[in-house]
Amino acid sequence: MQKHWWHKATIYQIYPKSFMDANGDGLGDLKGITSKLDYLQKLGITAIWLSPVYQSPMDDNGYDISDYQAIADIFGSMADMDELLKEANSRGIKIIMDLVVNHTSDEHAWFIEARSNPESPERDYYIWRDQPNDLLSIFGGSAWEYDQASNQYYLHFFSKKQPDLNWENAELRQKIYDMMNFWIAKGIGGFRMDVIDMIGKIPDQKISSNGPKLHDYIKEMNQATFGQHDLLTVGETWGATPEIAKRYSEPDGQELSMVFQFEHVSLQHKPNAPKWDYEKELDVPELKNIFAKWQTELALGQGWNSLFWNNHDLPRVLSIWGNTGTYRQKSAKALAILLHLMRGTPYIYQGEEIGMVNYPFKDLSEINDIESLNYAQEALENGKTKEQIMDSICMIGRDNARTPMQWDRTKQAGFSVSDQTWLPVNPNYKDVNAAAALADPDSIFYTYQKLVGLRKECDWLIDADFELLETADKVFAYKRSLPDESYLIAVNLSDEEQDFELTDSYKETIISNTDENQAFANHKLQPWDAFCVRLN
Ligand code: NOJ
Repeated sequence: MQKHWWHKATIYQIYPKSFMDANGDGLGDLKGITSKLDYLQKLGITAIWLSPVYQSPMDDNGYDISDYQAIADIFGSMADMDELLKEANSRGIKIIMDLVVNHTSDEHAWFIEARSNPESPERDYYIWRDQPNDLLSIFGGSAWEYDQASNQYYLHFFSKKQPDLNWENAELRQKIYDMMNFWIAKGIGGFRMDVIDMIGKIPDQKISSNGPKLHDYIKEMNQATFGQHDLLTVGETWGATPEIAKRYSEPDGQELSMVFQFEHVSLQHKPNAPKWDYEKELDVPELKNIFAKWQTELALGQGWNSLFWNNHDLPRVLSIWGNTGTYRQKSAKALAILLHLMRGTPYIYQGEEIGMVNYPFKDLSEINDIESLNYAQEALENGKTKEQIMDSICMIGRDNARTPMQWDRTKQAGFSVSDQTWLPVNPNYKDVNAAAALADPDSIFYTYQKLVGLRKECDWLIDADFELLETADKVFAYKRSLPDESYLIAVNLSDEEQDFELTDSYKETIISNTDENQAFANHKLQPWDAFCVRLN
C-alpha cells in the first residue's frame, strides 16, 4: 500500500473565533493563530484543520460563506492568511481548509443574483420548488423557505441563511473546483469537507445524504482539483457505514483520504432519539463493538479511519464520557491513549490537549449557537421546561466546545485583552490552562505530545492488525499485531477498580498513565488506568 504523509499525521482542529485574539476585540483571529504556532509545533502536530475563516455573515459561525476567496474581516485579511500559511509551513505544519460546498450563505453573490433574477444562470445553482415537501432542516423547522418575490421556495438543510447548492449544475461544480484550485495554489495541505455526503441530495425523493450521484461528484472533484497533489481530504459523513467509508477511502478509489464517521458519537444520545435526549452513562461494551467494527472493516489497504473524540459540534469528551473531577487529568490521558493507538489519523480539537471541559451555562441568554437556540425555541413550544432545555444544552450544546482556548491564568485566560469575549471563558481557567500544562511534566499535554510523536515514529500504528480483547465490561483492551511484534493497549473507562485477567507478560512500556506493573501483578486496573505495552 502506498503510504502518504497523512498516515503518520496527527491533525489539530482550530475554531478560529475561540483560539487566540490578537487585536483585542474579544474574538479570535488569524494573527492570533500565527502567534501560537510555536505552541502547536511543541505539541508536534502535522497539520491544522482550520474551521472556516472565509467572508461570512456568521449566522452559523462561518459555515455560511458569502465569499470563498476572501477572509472574514473579524479574522483579518488575505495577507494574514498568507502569513499564517508561510509561518506554519516553515514549522512543518500544513493547513487544511474547511470546504463548505453543500450550501453557501444567502449573502453570497450567487444567491443574491439567484434570488433577485430568476432568469439568471445562478438561479439554478440553488434548489427552488413551487411547493415545499415535508423535509426538515437539521437546525429545526421546514427545510424550505418561501421567497415572496418569485413565489417559490428554496431548500436549506441548515439555517435559512444557508441555501443548499444544486450539484446537478455543471457550471456551478466547475466554479467550486476553480475555487478549490485557488486554495491549492496557495500551498494548503488539504480540505475537510463539510457535510459532503449531502451534495448528491434528491429533495423530491427526500434523499438528503448518500444520493446516487454522490461518488461521481467526488471522483470528478478529485480529478479536477486535489487528485493531482498529495493532499489530505477528509469528508464529514454522518451517514457513513464501513461499506460506504471504504468506497470513499479505498486507496485506488480516487475519492478521499478518509471520512469522519460518527457512529461512536451517536452513543451520546438515546437510540434513534434527537441528540438533545442524551444518554447519562456511556455504554462501554457498545463503544467497544463500534470501534472494533470500524478498525477491522477498514483494514489496511481497504480504506482509512479518522479518529476523534471532539470537534466544534460536540460536547467536550471529558464532560460526557470522562471525569471532570478527581480523575480529570487521568481520564483525559486514558481517552487519548485509547484512541490514538488505533489505526487511522487522529484529530485533536483545541483545548483537548489540556483537558478542557464543558462550560457551566446557566441561562439561554449566554448561548450563541444557532442550533441550540432553535432547539430551545422549539422545545419551549413543545412544553419542555427551561430547566430541561438548559440541562440538554449544558451537556450536548455546541457552545461547550467553542468557549475561548485557555492559555494561562491571566484575565480572560490570556485569550483576549478585551473585557468582553464572544463566549465567556470557562471559570476553571486558573487551573486548566496551557501555561500550567506546559510547566507540569506530568500533564495531559505531554501525553498528547508523546502520542503525536509515536504516530510519526511507529510503523506498527499504521500496519498492525487490530483485535478487541474479551475483558470486564468497563475495560477497553485491544491488541495490535504484526507477524513479529505485538502491542497491548488496556484502558479502564470507569471511576472504579476493574478486574483485568490478562496473563501476558510484557517487554516494554510504550506509554502509560499509571503503574502498569501493579495492573499485571494484581490483575486489576485502577480507575482510568491506561497503558500500551509491547508484548513481544
Ligand atoms: C457541519 C459543521 O461541522 C457544523 O458546524 C455546521 O453547522 C454544519 N455542517 C453546516 O455547515
